[in-house]
Amino acid sequence: MQMTRKLAIVKSIQVAPRLFSTINSASDSANIGWKNDVPGFPEEHNTTLSMAALRQLSSSGSLPGQQKDSFRPTALWVQEPLNLVDYDYRAIAARIGPVKDTFYGYTWDVRTVPDAINAAYTSNDLGFHTELLYFEQPPHIQLLHCVQSASSGGASVFADAFNAAVDLFHMDVDAFDTLATVPVNYHYNHPDSNVYRTTKPEHLTDHALSALNNKVDWWHQAASKFNALLQRSECLYERKMRPGECVLFNNTRILHSRGAFDMADIGKPRWLRGTYVDKDPYFSKLRVLQHKFR
Ligand SMILES: [Fe+2]
Repeated sequence: MQMTRKLAIVKSIQVAPRLFSTINSASDSANIGWKNDVPGFPEEHNTTLSMAALRQLSSSGSLPGQQKDSFRPTALWVQEPLNLVDYDYRAIAARIGPVKDTFYGYTWDVRTVPDAINAAYTSNDLGFHTELLYFEQPPHIQLLHCVQSASSGGASVFADAFNAAVDLFHMDVDAFDTLATVPVNYHYNHPDSNVYRTTKPEHLTDHALSALNNKVDWWHQAASKFNALLQRSECLYERKMRPGECVLFNNTRILHSRGAFDMADIGKPRWLRGTYVDKDPYFSKLRVLQHKFR
């Protein structure tokens, strides 16, 4: 027997049903036709869902059997002592997934070279930065392994940009909005070898630069506020890495910097090695481990 009953729980779902069908009491299910169906489906196409599935869809946003990620929510930093163990960065990366190949190679070295074309290969202070922002998909996890530390200087400092962004949102939502919406161009421009360009946030016209120029004063004021929040000492983690130590961090959340260091370590300069792991293999590994230890 069928009885007509309005499916109130469907109302909250952001789709456009063409009709509310009847519920089949025997099977406790409903047929739903869609107003804006996927192109190619016939007019009579409909979807049959059990009431249990609809209730779960309404409460959780996913159907039974559809796994939703339930990783620990993003946490802000707290300062805690770290117990670091001597590991090889390649072994750690391999336990997560395939490393990301870039024009720097699967792995790379950070040490001073003469006539460096990249600031990383000098002994100068390096301000806070995210790596490879000129890529459409910058690396997610960065691993840095200390082979040799400088005798003087060269400490690494890490800042939580997410923390600063949350605080900026609460303190000055217009500044937050400016940084979140005004497009900025990033490029690596070496025409003989590599030319990479992106715009973030993505801008759908060719006029990203003029869009920034039109708001450049606002953008600089907003960026200054963000930078001040970023540089708060309680939000920084500084460590002069010792040989054998390896740091892993989310490259798209954690900005990193390096203090200037002494070039006088003849034959024993500061030397870090590193590699990247992309977001997909990282989250895949999390899901696999979650499944394994659930
Ligand atoms: Fe870097």
